[in-house]
Amino acid sequence: MGYRVVIAGATGNVGREMLNILAERQFPVDEIAALASRKSLGTEVSFGDKTIKTQDLDTFDFEGWDIALFAIGASATKVYAPKAADAGCVVIDNSSLYRYEPDIPLIVPEVNPDAVEHYRNRMIIANPNCSTAQLVVALKPLHDRARIKRVVVSTYQSVSGAGKDGIDELWDQTKGMYVPGQEVEPSTFQKQIAFNVIPHIDVFMEDGSTKEEWKMVAETKKIVDPSIKLTTTCVRVPVFVGHSEAVNIEFEDFLDEDEARDILREAPGIMVIDKREDGGYATPIESVGEYATYISRIRQDSTLDNGLNLWCVSDNLRKGAALNAVQIAELLGNRILKKG
Ligand SMILES: NC(=O)c1ccc[n+]([C@@H]2O[C@H](COP(=O)([O-])OP(=O)(O)OC[C@H]3O[C@@H](n4cnc5c(N)ncnc54)[C@H](OP(=O)(O)O)[C@@H]3O)[C@@H](O)[C@H]2O)c1
Repeated sequence: MGYRVVIAGATGNVGREMLNILAERQFPVDEIAALASRKSLGTEVSFGDKTIKTQDLDTFDFEGWDIALFAIGASATKVYAPKAADAGCVVIDNSSLYRYEPDIPLIVPEVNPDAVEHYRNRMIIANPNCSTAQLVVALKPLHDRARIKRVVVSTYQSVSGAGKDGIDELWDQTKGMYVPGQEVEPSTFQKQIAFNVIPHIDVFMEDGSTKEEWKMVAETKKIVDPSIKLTTTCVRVPVFVGHSEAVNIEFEDFLDEDEARDILREAPGIMVIDKREDGGYATPIESVGEYATYISRIRQDSTLDNGLNLWCVSDNLRKGAALNAVQIAELLGNRILKKG
């Protein structure tokens, strides 16, 4: 016996990956409903070797459904997640809406799986921002060994992090550069993204940081340890899928680069690719369609007493969103909503 599972946002980048990953990992599904906005009513999406038709989220009745994986953005989530939760269906939400509420668990299963017990507070569990998910998978095992004091992160985030529209804009703008009269003005992004990089993701905050940067700080503290100091610069780059991060870490205790490499090799969810030779490191293209967070370029930072640098790459639609959500559903299934 399995679960009755809902995917809200099934026509989007993350929703489609959720369907793929549920099928790939053979999540015990008895029945699945694919939901999106009314304009997508009847749109076909794939679930394993089946094709299912999309239903209208607005008229869907969540009564009797066990788990709903949401990937529809914060404003629509505000309307529909409470409806699902009130009907007794546990919501695993990808938007930022609930992440910072103290009674809502924010979970990366490799890092804080025990937080799943708190799902009962509101029947809602939050999934972190894509950049945070891969970062905390890398930080946690190192923190457990040498206590992290401070982290400096620069991100290189792919356009798929901005949804279907982000992918279309990079594609159309790149083609438009070569076809006179078909130039595409920026609309999803603030400046031209083709052949460019943009140090601006989400809105500006009062202190001059962006909301994306603030999210990484707040979420790392909530998931790993509030004592960790973090400063970030988040940058959009013309890559379709796969986020990269250059990470500098200062520890309380000394941690040798070879020991760090061994710790990361053993850690869940991580694949170390770290040869000091041409091509001996991971790039975003190699992370596409994979589950792992790839760690490369692990090396001592000689400007600090206890410092390390590393490079961290992952598929933002998978570990950064859909995979993490399915892993949370697996945790719920294994620990709490046991069936069969
Ligand atoms: N992309 C990432 O790397 C990433 C990572 C972490 C979290 N997230 C979060 O995941 C969510 C989805 O992102 P995405 O990249 O998949 O976006 P997307 O490709 O633009 O897809 C959005 C999905 O939401 C549906 N939707 C939007 N408004 C709706 C409404 N009012 N009612 C019903 N369905 C609605 C869309 O349906 P229609 O096709 O019918 O419009 C579509 O299925 C966002 O909250 C995003 O912040 C994304």
